[in-house]
Amino acid sequence: MQDLKGAVAVVTGGASGIGFAMAERFAREGAKIVIADIEQQALDRAVVKLEEAGADATGVVCDVSKLDSVQALLDATLAAYGKVNILCNNAGIQVAGPTWQMTPGQWEWILGVNLWGVIHGVQVFVPRMLEQGDACHIVNTSSMSGLLSVPMMSAYQVTKHAVVTLSETLSQELEQQSGKIGVSVLCPAFVQTNLHEAERNRPDELKDQGTITADLENVLRSSVKQLVTGGKPAPVIADAVLGAIQNGELYVLTHPELMGAFKHRADAILAAAKS
Ligand SMILES: NC(=O)c1ccc[n+]([C@@H]2O[C@H](COP(=O)([O-])OP(=O)(O)OC[C@H]3O[C@@H](n4cnc5c(N)ncnc54)[C@H](O)[C@@H]3O)[C@@H](O)[C@H]2O)c1
Repeated sequence: MQDLKGAVAVVTGGASGIGFAMAERFAREGAKIVIADIEQQALDRAVVKLEEAGADATGVVCDVSKLDSVQALLDATLAAYGKVNILCNNAGIQVAGPTWQMTPGQWEWILGVNLWGVIHGVQVFVPRMLEQGDACHIVNTSSMSGLLSVPMMSAYQVTKHAVVTLSETLSQELEQQSGKIGVSVLCPAFVQTNLHEAERNRPDELKDQGTITADLENVLRSSVKQLVTGGKPAPVIADAVLGAIQNGELYVLTHPELMGAFKHRADAILAAAKS
């Protein structure tokens, strides 16, 4: 997709951080924007900001972990603009802790948002894109955590590794099916967003008793905060995503300086394959 003018872009988790930056960037290219988010107030503020900048924007409250909510997002998009060209499955949350101490509620929450959210987006939007038959693009937000395995991050990494392979597979399938729907998987390292405050959006029914000590939880939370606030500005990531859409690139790797860690992992796997 070279030209976004008049295209319709849907961004989940679009009220904050990377999602909002992508919405702003696409709007500057002339796209019509639908931002979807679980937080009504943040969503309303984000729509006003986009409109003040001259965008044609709509906000839809959506919980990506629920299939019917994502179906309603497609319906609202079609009701507002009649079509969809870009879908960014971007909404995400993070939890941290030793693998054996993660609670069922933490697992269910993170799998629901970070993985089922992407699955729902693909299952609901791809049939419509195929039916339209015009140029479309799907961007799935993974992370460098989708390429690495570091301690305390297994639940997050499980979801992000899954999003990488889902995207790689989908890209090949859609190339064979139509050749008109591109796929990109965004794998940033640290970005200045509100990700370290994700806990505020955990549904009550998934708030269970943590098995991690309060001390450890505080240490983990403050280190995630430090890493995120010291990260790259979100608009830099949005520029890279726009470039990937326009150039049809599968991998969006915004932190090349950290790719040595991925090489270390790949080398260890290759070294284990003894002939
Ligand atoms: N910030 C980083 O350092 C970083 C690095 C790599 C990957 N990511 C990924 O980027 C994506 C965007 O996160 P961010 O960093 O911009 O954080 P953010 O918290 O600023 O934005 C995430 C948005 O998702 C929304 N959200 C949460 N649960 C939702 C749900 N169930 N349904 C719909 N919306 C929901 C939140 O309300 C929020 O507006 C996530 O998938 C995250 O894992 C972030």
